[in-house]
Amino acid sequence: MKTPSELFQEQHRIDKRIVLKATNLSVSMGSDQLLEHLTVEIQAGDFVGLLGPNGAGKTTLLKVFLGLFPPADGDVEVLGQPVHRGHRKIGYVPQKIHLEQDTPLTARDLVGLGLDGHLYGFALPTKRRRDRITEALAAVDALSYQHAAVGQLSGGQQQRLLIAQALVSRPEIMLLDEPLANLDIKSANEIVQLLGRLGKTRNLAIVLVAHDVNPLLGVMNKVLYLARGRGAMGPVNDIIQSEVLSRLYGYDVEVLRVKGRIIVVGGQETKGTVEDLTGCLHCDGQEQTAP
Ligand SMILES: Nc1ncnc2c1ncn2[C@@H]1O[C@H](COP(=O)(O)OP(=O)(O)OP(=O)(O)O)[C@@H](O)[C@H]1O
Ligand SMILES: [Mg+2]
Repeated sequence: MKTPSELFQEQHRIDKRIVLKATNLSVSMGSDQLLEHLTVEIQAGDFVGLLGPNGAGKTTLLKVFLGLFPPADGDVEVLGQPVHRGHRKIGYVPQKIHLEQDTPLTARDLVGLGLDGHLYGFALPTKRRRDRITEALAAVDALSYQHAAVGQLSGGQQQRLLIAQALVSRPEIMLLDEPLANLDIKSANEIVQLLGRLGKTRNLAIVLVAHDVNPLLGVMNKVLYLARGRGAMGPVNDIIQSEVLSRLYGYDVEVLRVKGRIIVVGGQETKGTVEDLTGCLHCDGQEQTAP
């Protein structure tokens, strides 16, 4: 007997196949075990918020899916195939890209770089290349500054271009590592809404690393929370719960819901260390509050 949601998906031909899968994944960093026996499944159309404290392994997990970091143990599949480097169907926006003011690239040049890495030396014909860049710029509403020097653009505009760069190869999966860092609340919300629309219209799987859950509320459908080598994944309201986070962190964590916002507050230590938790799990000393 099919559930109403399965019937809806079938009737509307929504493709929900698993596009990223890690089974029993363990990752070591030197002598440290960074991730232990993590099992994760991400479907086409999922918008996953990847959360967790500094050093939890969020960036490393993205690199495992990109084939850039070999796991110590476990299986990793991308679109049903064993993971490998340089997958054309994954768009990646790395953490901490800093574009100097005098970077000698226009917005179009920057987006075009997203084509070059995947083509194994076979350049697209000039017109097709131009069209693909225009398509990606249009997808992020950046056509109006396509000829501007990238170093002169605002943080929000640069972030749109980096997303366009990841989109230009027409990926099925987007991995974005803290794309909201350094953006003001309005720009962060715009980027999240933009990604939400792109995800829906293209049935993209999106994994977005963030430290504050609030800008993602209403857009992400799942959370993958990493801490102390372990992970919890599921619908937002199932995972961002005091009991679930306390279990993950190994000490009391309280989740408060105030006016549609989520505030995560660290409490008394029961096990492990609380060094990275001073009133707030995600925001380095500030309270995680509403934008
Ligand atoms: N190339 C490397 N060599 C050695 N240690 C590394 C390397 N890359 C990451 N690490 C270590 O692995 C751990 C996890 O790092 P990772 O960057 O994945 O964390 P993160 O969850 O993304 O943290 P943040 O929120 O600060 O970005 C950290 O302790 C980090 O110091
Ligand atoms: Mg990181």
